[in-house]
Amino acid sequence: MRLLATKREILRHDYSIEWRLTGLASRRLGWLAEPEGFDPAVLAASGPPPAHPDGPRNVREWLAAARADVLFEASSLNRSTGQPATDHLRAALESGAHAISANKGPIVHAYRELRDLARERDRRFLFESTVMDGTPIFSLFPHALPAVELRGFRGILNSTTNVVLREVERGLDFNAAVRKAQEIGVAETDPTDDLDGWDPAVKIAALAIVLMGEPLRLDEVERVGIRSVSEEKIRAAVAEGMRYKLVCRAERTPTGVSASVRPEKLPFSDPLAQLEGTTSAIRFDLDVFGLSIIEHKPGVIATAYGLLADFLRAAADI
Ligand SMILES: NC(=O)c1ccc[n+]([C@@H]2O[C@H](COP(=O)([O-])OP(=O)(O)OC[C@H]3O[C@@H](n4cnc5c(N)ncnc54)[C@H](OP(=O)(O)O)[C@@H]3O)[C@@H](O)[C@H]2O)c1
Repeated sequence: MRLLATKREILRHDYSIEWRLTGLASRRLGWLAEPEGFDPAVLAASGPPPAHPDGPRNVREWLAAARADVLFEASSLNRSTGQPATDHLRAALESGAHAISANKGPIVHAYRELRDLARERDRRFLFESTVMDGTPIFSLFPHALPAVELRGFRGILNSTTNVVLREVERGLDFNAAVRKAQEIGVAETDPTDDLDGWDPAVKIAALAIVLMGEPLRLDEVERVGIRSVSEEKIRAAVAEGMRYKLVCRAERTPTGVSASVRPEKLPFSDPLAQLEGTTSAIRFDLDVFGLSIIEHKPGVIATAYGLLADFLRAAADI
């Protein structure tokens, strides 16, 4: 919302787009709809108003009451089911709105269904911010790279483990390193999804499903977290000119795609070994060349930018 407001003039001038926020929803807020648009100044000063007792009671009623043209879905990830985000996105497309997701769950559980529904309804289903925030990853293919064949990829796609491994190298014990990652706002209160490799595994599955066209299931991604490596091994690696990193890989095979996330000992000379903090990177192995992309130190505005860029693609049809 803040980024949309900051970019209001560019959107108006360069893309002829005017926007207003007509709906807000979460479990705590309920379903809030205001078809004339919430006043951003009032929202910033006093927060969202209480839900009206006669207001919408579910996502479909809410989309109709808000007269939504675009839905931004940013609810918490449920990696086992992709819900309720998938239902929200489906309802948006069925109601005639574009569906934009920061949530990876629907990609892993319902990509083909939502993609086909969007095509059928002449709407867009976009999700650039799900992997590497605002960096163009999904939108590179096929527009910027027409007719390439993606043979595989390798990258570091999780910040928490980057920070924890670095702090252990510097001498903190594992639990203190996790607390440090939490203090600087990188790790969640419950860091399990990051430490055990779930977060990068979901990203690998999303990339393989969308960019390699393989219906890879999450349980088909081999997954080993960083807790499998002792503090001593992490520090000894540095003494040998190496660093442990949680590396994501996928490779096309004659029968599909083989994919994994696991700690790997990389030489300092490997570009992935040099990544620090929230910086993430991916190298795509294309049939025509290799392409590496590094996202340097993204903050939350990078995720917001991914959503904004998708909004423009959908609303301005670019
Ligand atoms: N943070 C990042 O930098 C980042 C980057 C890329 C992608 N993402 C993805 O973006 C999404 C949001 O991230 P976040 O860090 O803001 O997650 P979060 O802290 O878990 O917050 C998610 C929001 O979703 C709401 N919510 C949760 N379950 C819901 C449900 N069943 N129905 C309706 N609302 C629900 C929560 O509010 P209530 O508790 O009131 O329901 C909360 O406002 C996640 O899917 C995440 O994976 C985040």
